[in-house]
Amino acid sequence: MQAIRLYASSERVYAHATAVWSPAAFMRTRASEETTMTDFAGLYSQNAKNMKKSTIRELLKLTNKPGIISFAGGLPAPETFPVEDLRVAADAVFTKCPEIGLQYGTTEGDSMLRAELVKIEAKDGVKVGVDNILVTSASQQALDILPKVFLDPGDWIIAGHPTYLGAIQAVQSYRGNILGIPFAAAEDGFDMDELERRYAAHRAAGKFVKYLYVIPDFQNPTGICWSLEKRKALLRFAYRENLVVVEDSPYREIRFVGEHIPSLYQLEREMENRNIVVGLRTFSKILVPGARAGWIIGHPDLIAKFVVAKQAMDLCTNVFTQRWLAEFLATGKLGSVIENTKANYRAKRMHMLEQLERYMPKHPELHWTRPEGGLFLWLSLPGFINTDEMFHKAIAKNVAYVVGSAFYFGEPEHNSMRLNFSYSSKAEIEEGIKRLAEVVREEMAAHGG
Ligand SMILES: Cc1ncc(COP(=O)(O)O)c(C=O)c1O
Repeated sequence: MQAIRLYASSERVYAHATAVWSPAAFMRTRASEETTMTDFAGLYSQNAKNMKKSTIRELLKLTNKPGIISFAGGLPAPETFPVEDLRVAADAVFTKCPEIGLQYGTTEGDSMLRAELVKIEAKDGVKVGVDNILVTSASQQALDILPKVFLDPGDWIIAGHPTYLGAIQAVQSYRGNILGIPFAAAEDGFDMDELERRYAAHRAAGKFVKYLYVIPDFQNPTGICWSLEKRKALLRFAYRENLVVVEDSPYREIRFVGEHIPSLYQLEREMENRNIVVGLRTFSKILVPGARAGWIIGHPDLIAKFVVAKQAMDLCTNVFTQRWLAEFLATGKLGSVIENTKANYRAKRMHMLEQLERYMPKHPELHWTRPEGGLFLWLSLPGFINTDEMFHKAIAKNVAYVVGSAFYFGEPEHNSMRLNFSYSSKAEIEEGIKRLAEVVREEMAAHGG
């Protein structure tokens, strides 16, 4: 017989040191305390304690107010969803292969879907086989698998400063740290001098980086697209320092201006072919985000490790969805959906740029990116304006954005915002930018700017 202490919380200590352990006594104790116990904090793991609530998602709740024009979310335009073709593809799962689509599947992913994904990669200049592919519950799951596999508490990754909030959240939930690298003024990728400088200081302090996380095509949140030279320079850096490069590419296909640039995955194959790049792909921005389906490409050894990590999460990605998507892809219609989406966003992006030009007050420190693809642009304001504080004034005027500070870790900047141009109609874009410009003008006047 063993005397035990059941659990402790920060406020109250539940000591059962004198109790004699028995399962029945344990259950009785738990049941009787269930009604009174309100403080769970003492039970949380260190990982859970490190999980941060998403600022965006909290703020987004405010943007549901009726009448609001929201540039805040990252939603694709629903009019780009090929609803009828997707319905037919879903029916095909029921009629052609219910014994597959309604059954458990392998963790690696549905064989028909993976065969289609090999073709999608080939179209993008990437030669992979099915062994290089793991189907995931969209990219966000891949972003959770990576730190799970690579990071011990206290380990570091390198990422853009700012970068995608969901990646920050995932890394932090495994108690990983992020070394942030600012973007070059030319908006063509990282400031490589800063990368060298910050990395050297980091190593000198005995800190250990595991991987580089980048979104080379139309980054969330800034819309920046990496030049070919910067992509190569980043790979050379990774080779030299023996780092894995994670290339997150949800927006890659959504290019509406300029020339196609090879992915890091393709370039690495053409350079030293050391298999250091892990590619994250998703259907969320090229088809429908509700499918929650994406895929990782990488060396088969890495894929095998990711498979084990994913098994504990969900055994396999939703099997029905995978077959449904495979049936849709087999029609060969994805290309025209992407073309349609690009045309839609090209027009809206142009319209938003024109409205910004037209309505925003002129100031040397007030400028915005002109993304060649993706869903977002990044607006920078004079340093004396705090967009976190201004947010509530914008909501009062029925317009919403995402505060730039949400995309930073460590030392956030407070004078920027992310604007989404894919979701609103052109009329809403005009009216919304007009309202936003008014808020900015008032804020500048209040600060004597
Ligand atoms: C850069 C980036 N990575 C990953 C994701 C997650 O996308 P999903 O899980 O829908 O594939 C997003 C979503 O907006 C994103 O912007």
